[in-house]
Amino acid sequence: MFDFLTSDKLPGLVQAAYIIAAVLFIAALAGLSKHETAKRGNLAGMVGMGIALVATLVIAARQAELPDPLDHWRGLGFTLSVILVAMLIGAVIGAWRARTVQMTGMPELVALLHSFVGLAAVLVGINSFLDPEAPTEGSLGAIHEVEVFIGVFIGAVTLTGSIVANLKLSAKMKSTPLVLPARHLLNLAVIVLSVALLVWFMNDHDNGIIPLLLMTALALALGFHLVAAIGGGDMPVVVSMLNSYSGWAAAAAGFLLDNDLLIITGSLVGSSGAILSYIMCKAMNRSFISVIAGGFGSDGAVSGETRDYGEHREIQAAEAAELLADASSVVITPGYGMAVAQAQYPVAELTAKLRARGVQVRFGIHPVAGRLPGHMNVLLAEAKVPYDIVLEMDEINDDFATTDVVLVIGANDTVNPAALDEPGSPIAGMPVLEVWHAREVIVFKRSMATGYAGVQNPLFFKENSRMLFGDAKDRVEDIVRALPS
Ligand code: TAP
Repeated sequence: MFDFLTSDKLPGLVQAAYIIAAVLFIAALAGLSKHETAKRGNLAGMVGMGIALVATLVIAARQAELPDPLDHWRGLGFTLSVILVAMLIGAVIGAWRARTVQMTGMPELVALLHSFVGLAAVLVGINSFLDPEAPTEGSLGAIHEVEVFIGVFIGAVTLTGSIVANLKLSAKMKSTPLVLPARHLLNLAVIVLSVALLVWFMNDHDNGIIPLLLMTALALALGFHLVAAIGGGDMPVVVSMLNSYSGWAAAAAGFLLDNDLLIITGSLVGSSGAILSYIMCKAMNRSFISVIAGGFGSDGAVSGETRDYGEHREIQAAEAAELLADASSVVITPGYGMAVAQAQYPVAELTAKLRARGVQVRFGIHPVAGRLPGHMNVLLAEAKVPYDIVLEMDEINDDFATTDVVLVIGANDTVNPAALDEPGSPIAGMPVLEVWHAREVIVFKRSMATGYAGVQNPLFFKENSRMLFGDAKDRVEDIVRALPS
């Protein structure tokens, strides 16, 4: 064992293990992009992380090496015990939270987890600066100092930004944007001051800790201010953006620790988080820059709520069951209300019953239905709805005109025609599921209340729409019972 740990071949073996882990992480991302392969993707990620952990433990053991074998074993035992105890505590807390978290509480948990990555990046950066063996002279020293500075900056912004996101999402802090006078100038001032501190930091190594800590305080304030200025509505985009920051913070830590795997993993997280933020912004028709700058929602858009769309019509479960029994094609468009009601199980049962009667049943999923990316897909997969009948918005939109019945289950903004017809609407320009082209539309919700964007939905007042009021789970169960077998 001692020989193995001190062998010249070990660093090469660890590098090989890191490359295998990195390939598995890429395979995990590829797998997670499709329902059918998502489980395999998760497995690849878990195996990759297992390999990475073992390789890191081996390297930690090698670094604990002392000249005398007896001392070596003591040092090794101590290092490994500390790491294993820390891992055990983390694993217990992580497993408990993962088991107890509600699906709707996922974004706030993810936000909290990002804050840990930010904290780790700050600590790694400061530690690396204090390391007596760190390079201080020449171009290597300069590169190291820039790495430390940038790593700590990104980590500190991520730390406080993620804590604010967590507090806003869990309603422990007001979700309304904090709008300070000249807020953009304040942010700019922090960046300019940080650059000045970087110049000081690089030119006065002996007192470098002072500009480093001053910049850390400024970056912590910037993270707080950036996210506090963003309204609750944009929080999910912000969480995905912080996910991206946390990836870059981890990559910066990888440079400092000279750990290639951390650099690769951090870059994967950083770029996938940025792509996800972009996709979400596009699906919500928001500008990425205005979300980051905290400008969303304050553009004076007129809410459609004041308009008079006329009278809505109602339907009861028994009549809805008759309509479904006579239909040859049905499309179900679920939304946030299906998640709240936990209606996915009766929805899956209804689907199976209709399919057994020879009805073609498909699902139309809007990219931002629910409150987190893939929310509806996860719920439907949980209820064992076959993947091949779950279609994306672009795949189903042209088929509504030939659909007999659409069941809108707890969806609102994602099926709102005002997005296309009313240029002044806050959701104007957002692509939506065009369910109103179907012969009959049945809307499951509890009241005429607005959805997430706070705008009234003219769909509810259309000639071919009928409201089925009540909790979505109860109403779908009523239909399942009323449906002739
Ligand atoms: P929403 O517009 O949020 O509407 C959900 C509807 O569900 C509400 O109108 C509500 O009406 C109904 N509902 C709630 N509880 C219910 C229950 N127990 N039974 C039946 N109905 C219930 O839903 P959506 O169409 O999924 O749109 C999502 C919105 O969230 C979009 O505006 C999107 O931009 C935003 N958003 C999504 C994401 C992601 S990544 N998915 C991220 C950020 C923002 P009642 O109160 O009358 O029942």
